[in-house]
Amino acid sequence: MTILDGKALSEELIDSVKEKASNLKPTLAVILVGENPASLAYVKNKKKACEKTGIEYIEYKYPATITQEELLKKIEEVNQDDNVNGLIVQLPLPDHIYVPEVIKAVAPKKDVDGFHAYNIGKMFLSPEFEDLPPATPFGIVKLLDHYDIPIEGKDVVVVGHSNIVGKPISMMMLNRNATVTTCHIYTKDLAAHTKNADILIVAVGKEKLITADMVKDGAVVVDVGMNRREDGSLCGDVDFDEVSKKASYITPVPGGVGPMTVAALILNTIRATERQNQP
Ligand code: GUN
Repeated sequence: MTILDGKALSEELIDSVKEKASNLKPTLAVILVGENPASLAYVKNKKKACEKTGIEYIEYKYPATITQEELLKKIEEVNQDDNVNGLIVQLPLPDHIYVPEVIKAVAPKKDVDGFHAYNIGKMFLSPEFEDLPPATPFGIVKLLDHYDIPIEGKDVVVVGHSNIVGKPISMMMLNRNATVTTCHIYTKDLAAHTKNADILIVAVGKEKLITADMVKDGAVVVDVGMNRREDGSLCGDVDFDEVSKKASYITPVPGGVGPMTVAALILNTIRATERQNQP
């Protein structure tokens, strides 16, 4: 069994674009609303990664009481700011904010989260059109590629069908000629599907959702879950201790997919800046 070390690969990827960053001088703006502890932690990691890469980082922080109009106005202002190359609005947002409208407001060329319908739509076409793919799926593909894990022809089972992980990773796996099954909360018999997976990708947010009896011997297991236990420690959606005895490759939590999401955001920021600099 091999651990898929996202932390090490993330550092390697960040190192590999430092020179590009020093030429391009990209700027990433992050809009953070409220005090969600997970969001504060994610944003801290994104800031650190920007500093390591040599990307200028700007944070716009607002209280959870910000109105939809105020938030949209700020996004428009950053869209128009030629000094900013990438813009992300950290999710989740407070309940009174309508997220689809927020995502739609971000200029597609600055949408380094890859959440805008324009970038999602391009991603549907083929790998060549994955210009700004969503950061977590992009990070997962980078991780599998780094460890030379073949995707073509494999049975890939994705558990979770969110717009930011489950749906886009399903599409990116299909783009690479996998046979993809996407399971979700309404799936009748989850284990019947997961047992068939050569590559199992789990993005639900429920501790120990995936137990060893649900996994095929030799499967590649990618755990996108990020759950906090009552004692404050972090864990994924997969019962790591038991499933790692059956898997050929498995991501740890923390240190697997999380750092790869940050690395992918950095790569997207560099890519967006390069494209904006083209005549
Ligand atoms: N919340 C959880 N994951 C993400 C992400 O990739 N981007 C943003 N903006 N918010 C998130």
